[in-house]
Amino acid sequence: MTKHFLTLLDYSEKEIKHILELALKVKSGEVKEKLEDKTLAMMFEKPSTRTRVSFEVGMTQLGGHAIFLDMSTTQLGRGETIEDTVRTIERYCDVVMARVNKHADLEKMASVSKIPIINGLSERFHPCQTMADMLTVLEKKGKLEDLKVVFLGDCAFNMFNSTMIGFSKMWSNVVAVCPDKKEYTPNPELVENTRKYAKGSIKIEHDPVKGIREADVIHTDTWVSMGQEDADKRIKQLKPYQLNSKLLEHAKEDAIVMHCLPAHRGHEITDEVVDGPQSVVFDQAENRLHAQNAIMLYLLKNV
Ligand code: CP
Ligand code: NVA
Repeated sequence: MTKHFLTLLDYSEKEIKHILELALKVKSGEVKEKLEDKTLAMMFEKPSTRTRVSFEVGMTQLGGHAIFLDMSTTQLGRGETIEDTVRTIERYCDVVMARVNKHADLEKMASVSKIPIINGLSERFHPCQTMADMLTVLEKKGKLEDLKVVFLGDCAFNMFNSTMIGFSKMWSNVVAVCPDKKEYTPNPELVENTRKYAKGSIKIEHDPVKGIREADVIHTDTWVSMGQEDADKRIKQLKPYQLNSKLLEHAKEDAIVMHCLPAHRGHEITDEVVDGPQSVVFDQAENRLHAQNAIMLYLLKNV
């Protein structure tokens, strides 16, 4: 059966550890394995800077080739099914990375595809980002276990979901810090499902000061994700969860600040924090490249 990369729910602690170790070796140049003559199809239904550039550069570094496909300009835009599209692409390409509006479309692709499908972001998960984030924490803190990882703001969407799944599987203790409203609170079913495999704890806190206290890692994301509506209402309701220097004072002195980017400066994070000494946001962005190269080597060459 073809192995895909749709969500970290499908990956064991051992596999995640293996890919992270591989990513460190890819980054240091120790890995000689390449993906020569392999072609990656990159399919996008939503905008992207980091995902598009890092996957394309990654394929170049590995000796392969990447093709960019704006999904709206393929025959998908004229009604060809996602399944028929994948059945066609697999006759030319070796791996697909797709960024989609509906996670269900990735599942449809994976259900028929003979080549690996990698999730480049859906409304439910962003596993490539979380692999890069775990790699960054590993580099900065030397470990993933026994860390307090706080996620501030919208804890009901892709970035929180993947952060919760990945970090808790790797023994970090995850705290969702969000308003006491259904639209920002972790999905109870997903929390329950994640807890079955989690080695660290998963907690929810609505008071930002209490939530961030003693944090080792503070993660945040946009208040208005791609595809979300009611921007003004969301910005107003999430305002108390802004990551600013006053709030950051309550975390550990050596806490690191993370953001998957793009940042909306002055909203979820302030300039002084995103540009401050605790911020590792561009290390995370760089690590997308190394983590994804490791994911592709693992899926295509079983490295
Ligand atoms: N973090 C991230 O996925 O960035 P892009 O939307 O620019 O790809
Ligand atoms: N939650 C954000 C992440 C962007 C990389 C979004 O889905 O727009």
